[in-house]
Amino acid sequence: MPSAPPVRLAVIGNPVAHSRSPQIHARFAASADQALDYTRIEAPLDGFIATVRAFATGGARGCNVTVPFKTEAFAACTRLSERARRAEAVNTIAFEADGWFGDNTDGAGLVRDIELNAGVTLRGKRVLVLGAGGAAAGALDPLLAARPAALVVANRTPAKAQALVERFAASAARLDVPLSSASLETPGAGFEVLINATAASLQAAVPPLPGGTLAPGALALDMMYGAAALPFLRWARAQGAVARDGLGMLVEQAAEAYFVWMGVRPGTFQVLTELRREVDAQAASVERGARA
Ligand code: ATR
Repeated sequence: MPSAPPVRLAVIGNPVAHSRSPQIHARFAASADQALDYTRIEAPLDGFIATVRAFATGGARGCNVTVPFKTEAFAACTRLSERARRAEAVNTIAFEADGWFGDNTDGAGLVRDIELNAGVTLRGKRVLVLGAGGAAAGALDPLLAARPAALVVANRTPAKAQALVERFAASAARLDVPLSSASLETPGAGFEVLINATAASLQAAVPPLPGGTLAPGALALDMMYGAAALPFLRWARAQGAVARDGLGMLVEQAAEAYFVWMGVRPGTFQVLTELRREVDAQAASVERGARA
């Protein structure tokens, strides 16, 4: 009997060469014994929709969307998950007979990484999110659903944090979670979980938080990974925190997307362990290069 042709998927972004998604999804497919062809596609900055359309008409099942197209993808989808609607950003599209279904698996991936991989229960904790861009917006709904004792969004431009908080106020009230905004300089004290969703790490900068922001032994997570995350991780350890990069979130959001397309939730432990080894080796060699 001829075997079924592989399911076709891709990650579409610009730039996209650095994306580890093909590698992650290939490992998921192998572990689930499913045939998959997952590629990278770089869309021109003014040609995202045309690129997705061409890929969809070629018989593909869906795609991941990465920087800088998540907002454009949100606007183009005909049907949206609740979490994508509130995040106003889409990172996962499933091509359906009558249009595109858009989802956002980033925040769910973050919460799964914190709770399952890092072993930190968010319920009842004081949580601080740094940043008020798309990355922070994607995280808020799943973070609220985990029922922390308080959720504070602090941003370099406080007005943007305030706008984000207003967008999620109804959700927070429904779940009875106090949600507020702050500046980076006065975020409050004693947070048990800190999530860096700013782009500061891309500039090797660490947000200027005052001493005492973190409770002893807090979890401090940067959504970046590899060499970019190192300054934040170093800062977090110096504060006495447990430092964590965004690699687990990356693998968990991918598993969530795999479920959307393939109806199977792949295990993540093995993939994360292998990827961790590769990324840490690369980051160490970048560090050695920087010192040489
Ligand atoms: P993304 O989609 O990755 O969230 P974005 O929408 O451009 O990207 O948002 C970037 C976030 O990082 C913003 O919250 C930004 O703060 P501002 O709103 O004040 O611009 C934050 N950010 C970028 N560079 C930063 C830095 N060096 N220190 C602190 N915050 C920074």
